[in-house]
Amino acid sequence: MPRQLHLNAFLMNTGHHEASWRLPESDPYAHVDLAHYVHLARVAERGTFDSLFLADGPQLWNNLAQRPAGALEPLTLLTALATATEHIGLIATASTSYNSPYNLARRFASLDIVSGGRAGWNIVTTAGAEAARNFGLDAEPAHAERYARAGEFLDVAFKLWDSWEDDAIVADKAAGVWGDDARIHPPRHRGTYFQVEGALNVPRSPQGYPLLVQAGSSEDGKRFAARYAEAVFTAQQTIEDARAFYADLKARTSAAGRDPGHIKVLPGIVPVIGSTEAEARELERTLEEHIVYAHGVGRLESLLHLPSGALELDAPLPDDLPSEDAIEGAKSRYTLVVELARRERLTVRELIGRLGGGRGHLTFAGTPEQVADAIETWFTQSAADGFNIMPPVLPSGLDAFVDHVVPILRARGLLRAEYGPRTTLRERYGLPRPANQYTTRENALV
Ligand SMILES: Cc1cc2nc3c(=O)[nH]c(=O)nc-3n(C[C@H](O)[C@H](O)[C@H](O)COP(=O)(O)O)c2cc1C
Repeated sequence: MPRQLHLNAFLMNTGHHEASWRLPESDPYAHVDLAHYVHLARVAERGTFDSLFLADGPQLWNNLAQRPAGALEPLTLLTALATATEHIGLIATASTSYNSPYNLARRFASLDIVSGGRAGWNIVTTAGAEAARNFGLDAEPAHAERYARAGEFLDVAFKLWDSWEDDAIVADKAAGVWGDDARIHPPRHRGTYFQVEGALNVPRSPQGYPLLVQAGSSEDGKRFAARYAEAVFTAQQTIEDARAFYADLKARTSAAGRDPGHIKVLPGIVPVIGSTEAEARELERTLEEHIVYAHGVGRLESLLHLPSGALELDAPLPDDLPSEDAIEGAKSRYTLVVELARRERLTVRELIGRLGGGRGHLTFAGTPEQVADAIETWFTQSAADGFNIMPPVLPSGLDAFVDHVVPILRARGLLRAEYGPRTTLRERYGLPRPANQYTTRENALV
């Protein structure tokens, strides 16, 4: 099989562009409308995407005036989508800083069972003090501390998902034996952050573990990804940066004793598609004209950890910004935004315009052929194993991608033409099913 693209549909209410909800076609209530998400999931499935994905955080994101805010809880929404789709993977974001392993491991095992092995977990450590204050803390735990907790969280989750051997259920009606207690392995975990005694209250799921996804590109984030992640979402502005990130992550994964083929790197792209280049530029311009800059300034100040009023719309960023080391929130996004502004000598207004589409992800406006060319170039030049597709407007941007870009990618042999037999999400991503850490040759049933 020649190498093929992995495509993930990153779904966000009316689209990734902050002004998308203001277009005449958009439904400002779509963010809590199940029918909207069922439609999007089915379109992505028509485009034979590997998976779809929902971002999340345990806090109210965004200034309510700016764009639709508040969202359905991802595991709940994905459970509904599991029953409305057949093949597509379902990836939910969940925080390791503001959950406990037992509850979360159970929810992911449940989604994996309900969906027939299509669950994925975008593991995030959650930046920002707002979330911390919703969980009894005054400030966010330090960046390194959040990643240390995430590591232990994963180790406990593995123990829980393995706490039932695959053949723990015997279902021997004649003998009157339903299950074999010898094949249940309580974690009895005593760690720095967690104490977890007993086995999970749901059997081992079709995939064993959900697909493990990670999305932070700081030093700690990359170290974590090399150890645990099977797919990585990342924001990269240039192919040079993306190639360097790709090579670095693959090398780190090898150094961690893992197969570098078992970590798929998926940069985000915001495709602004028109039937001509002029039409694509026009859509880009329309969206930009709908940005309310006063909202954008506040958001940028908070991302850059500046006090309110520190930025002027028609001036460049201040010279004396702190270095990434001093940032305890989202480190890599901070650096990306500052470098973008400096590299292209953008004013604050221009920077807000550039971030409006994808918050730092690559925005690419063009014809379907041009979008397909960009995807092919990054894919064949070792910058990506696939893409996180982030339509600026939903549903129209996903429709356009599936109807016009997907056929080109298929004709070039870069994307499957159909799903074929049902498989798990791990199989779609070319990943093995994890062995159960407690099953040995001696205790395996034959
Ligand atoms: C495509 C993508 C999606 C993300 N989704 C979420 C999310 O849903 N929730 C969240 O708290 N952080 C999300 N993040 C942020 C990362 O988890 C991380 O906090 C951020 O990239 C900064 O990480 P770093 O400090 O390791 O650089 C996302 C990042 C990327 C690139």
